[in-house]
Amino acid sequence: MADMHSTTAAAPAVIRRADYQAPDWLVPDIALDFDLDLALTRVRATLSVARNGDHDRPLRLDGDGLVPLAVRVDGRPLDEAEWHLEAGALIIALPGGEHEVETLVELAPESNSKLMGLYASGGLLCTQCEAEGFRRITFFPDRPDVLSRYSVTMAADKARFPILLANGDPVEQGDLDGGRHWARWNDPFPKPCYLFALVAGDLACNADSFVTMSGRTVQLGIWVKQADLPRTAHAMQALKNSMAWDERVYGREYDLDVFNIVAVADFNFGAMENKGLNIFNSRYILADPETATDIDYDGVEGVVAHEYFHNWSGNRVTCRDWFQLSLKEGFTVFRDQNFSADMGSHAVKRIEDVRILRAGQFQEDSGPLAHPVRPETYMEISNFYTATIYNKGAELIRMMALMLGPERFRAGTDLYFDRHDGQAATCEDFVLAMEEGGGIDLTQFRLWYEQAGTPHVRALLSHDPVAQSVELTLEQMVPPTPGQPDKQPMAIPLRTALFDPATGAHHGDELLMLDEARQSFTFAGFASAPVLSINRGFSAPVIVETNRSQDDLAFLSAHDDDPFARYEAMQQLMVNVLIGRIGGRLVEDDAVVAAIRHIVADPTLDPAFVAEAIRLPSEAYLGDQMQQVDPDAIHAARDSLQRKIGADLESLWRDVHAGTKANGFSLSSAAKGARKLRNAALHFLVASGAQDGPAIAFDQFSEADNMTERQAALGTLANGASAQRVAALDIFYNRYSADALTLDKWFQTQAFAFHPDTVDLVEELGRHKDFTLSNPNRVRSLYGAFAGNQWAFHHRSGKGYRLVADCIIALDKRNPQTAARLVPPLGRWKRFDDARAALMRGELQRILAEPGLSKDVTEQASKSLD
Ligand code: TRP
Ligand code: ZN
Repeated sequence: MADMHSTTAAAPAVIRRADYQAPDWLVPDIALDFDLDLALTRVRATLSVARNGDHDRPLRLDGDGLVPLAVRVDGRPLDEAEWHLEAGALIIALPGGEHEVETLVELAPESNSKLMGLYASGGLLCTQCEAEGFRRITFFPDRPDVLSRYSVTMAADKARFPILLANGDPVEQGDLDGGRHWARWNDPFPKPCYLFALVAGDLACNADSFVTMSGRTVQLGIWVKQADLPRTAHAMQALKNSMAWDERVYGREYDLDVFNIVAVADFNFGAMENKGLNIFNSRYILADPETATDIDYDGVEGVVAHEYFHNWSGNRVTCRDWFQLSLKEGFTVFRDQNFSADMGSHAVKRIEDVRILRAGQFQEDSGPLAHPVRPETYMEISNFYTATIYNKGAELIRMMALMLGPERFRAGTDLYFDRHDGQAATCEDFVLAMEEGGGIDLTQFRLWYEQAGTPHVRALLSHDPVAQSVELTLEQMVPPTPGQPDKQPMAIPLRTALFDPATGAHHGDELLMLDEARQSFTFAGFASAPVLSINRGFSAPVIVETNRSQDDLAFLSAHDDDPFARYEAMQQLMVNVLIGRIGGRLVEDDAVVAAIRHIVADPTLDPAFVAEAIRLPSEAYLGDQMQQVDPDAIHAARDSLQRKIGADLESLWRDVHAGTKANGFSLSSAAKGARKLRNAALHFLVASGAQDGPAIAFDQFSEADNMTERQAALGTLANGASAQRVAALDIFYNRYSADALTLDKWFQTQAFAFHPDTVDLVEELGRHKDFTLSNPNRVRSLYGAFAGNQWAFHHRSGKGYRLVADCIIALDKRNPQTAARLVPPLGRWKRFDDARAALMRGELQRILAEPGLSKDVTEQASKSLD
């Protein structure tokens, strides 16, 4: 035991928000000189440094794995006694106020498997600096409140690296001896180093332009490998739409003469908002009908918008420290969500976003890794790029926008941007701007930034026939979360309406503010009991419990005029049946079948909405509704309801499936909606057990002229045991094995499959010749997808846990950031039976016993054991 502990690294240091101190030294200007090569790159950095405030502390420049080959101050080479390294950082004692400090380091980008700092991907050289990657490139105060003007010079072999890009505007370029060339880029806007970027390589450009609202022409470029050029049109259109939208909706204009986007195959995240040079995971740039689903197209549009919007919410106004991460991420997600809603359907986008929030953030908020939107502590900041910071953060902005209304919200954001342009700001600065610009008191609302955990709201409606009134009693409870045992009541905005079931008419759509533990609201003028519609539009990110009957829910599913509330009534109707069944009670399911029939038959509804409304709650969502998750019982109950809906409405599904077949491909909302509904119909038809189900799915798979229908058919077949299953998987593999993004779908579809052998299949796929730990997309497609497949991952043998733990251990050695993202599914052991919990804990302990484990995985695994 003692031995084991001596090989385990000491617990990583905890960073605290309360310890924030302004930087000791500022760096107003930096010149970077890169001599680029895959194997060995030389970086010379010249920093103008200025003492900040009255102190005598030395200059401290962060470094991670860097060796200073030369250090000069004001042109004079320092000898080794004049500087030292401390935890990777370069420490230099300096007299007086201002100096010029020059360092020289060498990097080996080709062997940088962490994909942080300067690294190679498919023969390109690119960078990723957020959050703390710049210190892997050069010595620098790597914190977001040190803002500098950058001048970047790159030299490289002209044949291998014909294109040289960096932030800002290109200023000069030329040829050098020996087949080399150089280029210089200057970025006039001071920025923190996490926004630094460069790219060098053999890239082709989709070039376009955009004229801003003040009449300036901006050159737009999307840079990809030559062969991928035909797949960039959608991203370019999304970029231009985003630029116009930010002008129209927020009054924000782009500020440089060029805006470039580069797509790379190996990337830890979705994309990165580097000033003027966004770098993307290629899966969020490349799209064509042959390889991209409608979800992929929407992903491209949403992520292009997200990164573009960061130019104001993130770059012009950045974060003071990483505890403020949601300042830029929550706000920017809110902005991209509204942009996508404006480009398509508000109703459907809201439903999709809430589904994502519930699947990712609610789970996080109820587990060992729960943390506030503005955390108080962290060990490794990379672990805090979470659904809470991003998606719950966006919900906080949405609630403020709702309470203020559009005009006052815009006054608040105008004040925020004007007041903090060029600054590193805090979440508190944003809230203050909302208060002052919008004229509202957000004192109690601030608790949303401080308290973790999803609030539960109990809403009970009681009717008094004598007084002809109803009383709505609301109670809130915020559950304890790690480090926060006791909670105060939050300010919860609940859009509410009351429906008369006899006429279908409703009384108002009021915004009720629940800001005490318990509150009652009385409504007059109800001769008979109305039906409650609450948290309409999902106005607050809470869990609502009501005493509504199945009849009430069926009524709302047919009549509620708020599309989200209507969807929610359908979901609740199905949840009640399924949770009852799982608990061994026979709950009537005819109401579900009838409600589905009613919705599908309504010609006035958008097919995309219909497809959402009739979708069964996911197995994970059902697990969230239970005291203890029983993955097998959940799967069985959901499967049988699906079969019942399939069989009872078989002819309807046949009609819908046939009736939504398109004549040629289009990306219009109508065409996308039709495909979504067609896939839902196919799914139910196959679930019905109809003899010809697999053949119909196989036909769709074979005949489809787009990936949306092809992948859905493949997924449906992958769930079953038909002969067509094997055939379709083989055909798909043979057709797409040369295209990495599409081959990811082949791995992902099998890892997601509701199939009794999924766990064994995933084990085999982990040894497949096309599987690799060096590409994060591939890892996520197999192990990430598998860990999200509740029934398969929680196989009672514990084999699923072992597979994921093995992957974490192997991956941690090359890419700790991506490895750490696979830990949370193992941390949910408290929600499962003792046998599963013990197996999950055993894997977490095995991971933690691994010698040389990264800070990233150590933090996630150790917190998950508590
Ligand atoms: N800031 C980026 C975004 O949300 C994402 C990001 C954060 C990132 N850390 C990263 C991307 C690390 C790649 C690697 O748009
Ligand atoms: Zn972002």
